[in-house]
Amino acid sequence: MGLLTLPLRNAEAGAASALDPSELPRPYQTPFVQAPILRPDRSGIDPVDGAPTQYYTLAAMAASSAILPRLKTPILGYNGIFPGPTISVEQGTKAVVRMRNQLPATHPYDGHPLYSSTHLHGSASLPQYDGYANDITNPGFRKDYVYPNFQPARTLWYHDHAVHHTAINVYSGLAAQYHLHDPLERALLPQGEFDVALTINDAMFAVDGSLAYEDNSHSGLWGDVILVNGRPWPVMKVKKRVYRFRVVNACISRSLRPTLSTGDPVTVVATDGGLMPVSQSVASWRHGPAERYEILIDFRKYKAGQRIELRNLSNKNNVDYEFTNSIMAFDVVPDPVDTKDPTWNTIPVQLAPSEVMALKPSASTVQRPFKIARNNGLWTINGTTWEPIVASGFRDVAANPDLNSVEIWEFHNPGGGWYHPMHIHLIDFQVLSRNGQAPFAYEKGPKDVVYVGENEKVQVLMKFGPHTGRYMIHCHNTVHEDHDMMVQYRVGPEDAADTITNNPITAAPAQWDTGLA
Ligand code: C2O
Ligand code: CU
Repeated sequence: MGLLTLPLRNAEAGAASALDPSELPRPYQTPFVQAPILRPDRSGIDPVDGAPTQYYTLAAMAASSAILPRLKTPILGYNGIFPGPTISVEQGTKAVVRMRNQLPATHPYDGHPLYSSTHLHGSASLPQYDGYANDITNPGFRKDYVYPNFQPARTLWYHDHAVHHTAINVYSGLAAQYHLHDPLERALLPQGEFDVALTINDAMFAVDGSLAYEDNSHSGLWGDVILVNGRPWPVMKVKKRVYRFRVVNACISRSLRPTLSTGDPVTVVATDGGLMPVSQSVASWRHGPAERYEILIDFRKYKAGQRIELRNLSNKNNVDYEFTNSIMAFDVVPDPVDTKDPTWNTIPVQLAPSEVMALKPSASTVQRPFKIARNNGLWTINGTTWEPIVASGFRDVAANPDLNSVEIWEFHNPGGGWYHPMHIHLIDFQVLSRNGQAPFAYEKGPKDVVYVGENEKVQVLMKFGPHTGRYMIHCHNTVHEDHDMMVQYRVGPEDAADTITNNPITAAPAQWDTGLA
């Protein structure tokens, strides 16, 4: 590794944004907001299988956002907002999301073409609806994505996955939450205004208020401003009851270690793939990009008028700044609480068993190693990248499990300079071990991203299905993903289902967007 590939580690506090200090936001000056819930255009019945279906439309477009106290920030956003509208669906009802690419032809920052691919992260979608990186929709085109919603309740998020430009496209604003509900989760956890989305990311700004982008020789971007739902360090008013927060780390590189300023623990109730078997009380947790943790915070014991901060203890190999140790604050208000809602004072212990958490390592037929390394400035998985897969006509695969087979995959990060949030599309996995030890308490639930820390060897256990076909595996530090830390695997044989019916690129191509149905 040459000197040129070394990252910038000695950034000075406050050095990231070039903004005049008087234009910089400061913690706890902005009210908390949430993205709106997207309304369906209509409800109907799927013509093929008769399933109840909700139809939605979104448009990715350039827009301007009020993030800073005075200056406006140009963004790219779903329906022009960041984060984009939240989609909220019930298990058993399909969603068809028409994604219209109304972006400019090229990105204003670096001129890359603004083709898009949209991934619903956490959904077992068919390959042609999974946001395969090369399944692109060009500006002026649209694509209808079909989401099955048969999985257990969970927090998902949809974001851009365009090949080689995912990091800057997501950083520019193409990210949003998607909530899948089911009856069990409805009964156990707070709902409605007490079920709160927290999409967290970091940003840095140029003098004119636009987003600055510095990926430190493709190692990562660490901004000095922390945004929650697109607002810097906001303050939320909370009643004296239990709240549920769906925490999505939407940073392109930064990992978080959230903790409460009171020193009190939070209760983790759900991980990427939904409810854990048993809730876990933790004082802080390591939260990499794309991981989702649902937590309960019990505000009953605090006094009206009290401020509780959600702070960030950070982790190894982040670049931190003066205020990146803060995320947001909660101000307790004396408003009356509806004590007829049983979730107001309930911290459940037993939650939900799941197929993946019940898997036993003895069911595994293969153990596959995935070694992560940086070679000649490129991030690699088992020495390879996405480029040879493109060159193979998208046929090369890093693994080829049979449908319904159970395997153990081991991610090994031998380096001390980086952490890698590794993501496997399609399936949920169980974290089996980290360096031979038990996983952390908060990751004892179904996951689809695992934090592979410095010098760590992490084993995950999963069953492949319910679909066959080709799916991506990549690092969710999207700067790494773009350069070029992504491979794919195929479930089942290279048959007509794989090559034709569910071909990730050709089975459901984008259409010219006439604006007509
Ligand atoms: Cu959230 Cu392949 O991504
Ligand atoms: Cu990585």
